Amino acid sequence: MPHAIRVSKVGGPEVLEWTSVDVPPPGPGEVQLRHTAIGLNFIDVYHRTGLYPQPLPFTPGAEGAGVVTALGPNVTGFTVGQRVAYATIPGAYTELRNAPVEKLIALPPDIDDATAASVMLKGMTAEFLLNRCRPIGTNDTILFHAAAGGVGQLAIPWARHLGATVIGVVGREEKIALAKAAGAHHVVLQADFVAQAKALTQGRGVDVVYDSVGKDTFLGSLDALRSRGTLVSFGQSSGKAAPLDVNAIGGPRSLFVTRPSLFAYVSTRAELEASATALFDVIRRGVVKVPKPTTFPLREVAAAHRALEARQTTGSVVLCP
Ligand SMILES: NC(=O)c1ccc[n+]([C@@H]2O[C@H](COP(=O)([O-])OP(=O)(O)OC[C@H]3O[C@@H](n4cnc5c(N)ncnc54)[C@H](OP(=O)(O)O)[C@@H]3O)[C@@H](O)[C@H]2O)c1
Repeated sequence: MPHAIRVSKVGGPEVLEWTSVDVPPPGPGEVQLRHTAIGLNFIDVYHRTGLYPQPLPFTPGAEGAGVVTALGPNVTGFTVGQRVAYATIPGAYTELRNAPVEKLIALPPDIDDATAASVMLKGMTAEFLLNRCRPIGTNDTILFHAAAGGVGQLAIPWARHLGATVIGVVGREEKIALAKAAGAHHVVLQADFVAQAKALTQGRGVDVVYDSVGKDTFLGSLDALRSRGTLVSFGQSSGKAAPLDVNAIGGPRSLFVTRPSLFAYVSTRAELEASATALFDVIRRGVVKVPKPTTFPLREVAAAHRALEARQTTGSVVLCP
């Protein structure tokens, strides 16, 4: 019998239980796939802790790559043996699963499975943040939090390629070199990022802040912006930010604030395909060099969660079934 990770009550990493599962044949519009690599994402932590409530019990994870092993009734466009990947299908922490074909992307030969599992969610996030949420260009100076992390390592080189001046933020000195190597023009520590952002822009403030840290940085991110700048608040690795008083961003500041989710930006088949195609294209052209992911056996996912939450990981983490 195949195995999966099951969460029956929310809590710490210890609630991630290794269990056997019965996977029925794929239904209409589904294929069955055997995972070869599964992506770990911070949203998996929010689900596990209950920050984003899920009906219990549930299997965490939303991103994976694998091989199609069976087709459901009337499925066309996919074949048994084909390599596929996805970023927005709940229940990824499993050896075998059924998956709706409308959320699957066929993998091109030059994107291997571990790369796919490390970029589908984080890389399409970089794509929508930089191209569509607040399109950036040569006149922009942007500040990107968690620059050495999974999303950060993909977004930094992409933003630089688009012509932006990129200020990366990291939590510790040891991560500075990684953020620089990814392409950041400047790298600053989280402890004094507001002052550094101001100093690097001659007191003006940056055009856009991409903030995935939340509670610890949200207000500082607003302070780091120029007048009429944009805060893209896309995560909360340090916890939920305090509620925003809309009056605090008015007057001479006249700021824009958005709280986007990848799920909303790839909600149609056309958007999903365009985002994945743009991602594979920047990888293929060497614009974005995907760092080798850190791997953990799927069964040891609790250790992977501990490392991610303790800010010990850099780049992507991939779980191996
Ligand atoms: N909105 C969306 O659609 C979307 C999609 C994908 C990801 N995200 C968000 O993007 C962020 C990055 O995701 P990821 O999976 O690539 O994770 P990650 O960046 O690899 O890991 C999170 C990083 O956040 C930083 N951080 C700062 N304060 C932290 C704290 N108190 N606890 C833990 N980490 C802290 C750490 O970097 P330093 O040590 O360098 O500070 C840590 O390495 C997450 O917030 C995630 O929710 C959002």
